[in-house]
Amino acid sequence: MGRMETEGSSPSHLPPDLKGQDLLFPGFQNSSLLTWPCGHPNIHPLVTGGKDSLHGRWPWQASLRFSKGHTCGGSLLNRRWVLSAAHCFEKHRDPSEWMVQLGELSAKPPFWNLRAFYHRYKVQDIFMHPYFRGFLLNDIALLRLSSSVTYNKYIKPICVLASSADFQNRTDCWVTGWGQIREDMELPSPYMLQEVQVSIINNSRCNQMFQRPNRIWEDMICAGFENGGRDACRGDSGGPLTCEENGLWYQIGIVSWGIGCGRPNRPGVYTNVSRYFTWIRMIMAHSTPRPDPCPLLLLLVLLWAALLVQLA
Ligand code: ARG
Repeated sequence: MGRMETEGSSPSHLPPDLKGQDLLFPGFQNSSLLTWPCGHPNIHPLVTGGKDSLHGRWPWQASLRFSKGHTCGGSLLNRRWVLSAAHCFEKHRDPSEWMVQLGELSAKPPFWNLRAFYHRYKVQDIFMHPYFRGFLLNDIALLRLSSSVTYNKYIKPICVLASSADFQNRTDCWVTGWGQIREDMELPSPYMLQEVQVSIINNSRCNQMFQRPNRIWEDMICAGFENGGRDACRGDSGGPLTCEENGLWYQIGIVSWGIGCGRPNRPGVYTNVSRYFTWIRMIMAHSTPRPDPCPLLLLLVLLWAALLVQLA
């Protein structure tokens, strides 16, 4: 259970002038990490078989709200981008109908909680993976927010790696969300974020557990328990499956699909995030507009140029 965590130091593979900034790495072809800083929760340590979480434990967790109500989960990648599942947007692709709530434990905060309303962000664009076809493959989407997110103790981004090979046999990963707590039971009031610990199940084992016609493809990852009981469920979709490594938290999966919730031999199936590392980086790099030149700076440059002309 909870232990307070202080900010760690920047990774050593970054040049000193880039440390501590909010980055994506279009120019860093060798970088295996998507953004920096990321993965620092405030407190260290669905969802079916889970329990209420603590504020600040999953500071990247987002509640994606359609028509003002929680519809899907998501995760914060940096100040402008939220990662989620493509199937969340299958029927509703209009960004103006969506809002992203960050930094709150409850999916339905009371109306007097002004902070919750302050931490809701409008969505500017929705990028569904171009090869997403129905539930199964390429279930990944990126949301570009209309304004920049302010980080605080309860709002921080998660790390994404180019490879998740190191996490293949982990038994201590976590899935978080405001989805149903059982196949037949909604999350009760006060709608607190749930967390549950799950094991990563390798794809060949997972294919044995599921029966045809279900197939676990390479871009999917399974997590749960052989005898069930711990799983994501309806409403958790789009939310993160995360694991810790050396004090940093990494997102390994996106809640995608399952057969029922928490059934024996039916682990949850997640989108394998690192398989889409290049796609994520490409979308983020090509759709981030350049900031408008600051008018004051422009004026100063003009004045300076005029001065130079006079001196010459
Ligand atoms: N597709 C579901 C949703 O829209 C998520 C299902 C996850 N199910 C599971 N048993 N892991 O919320």
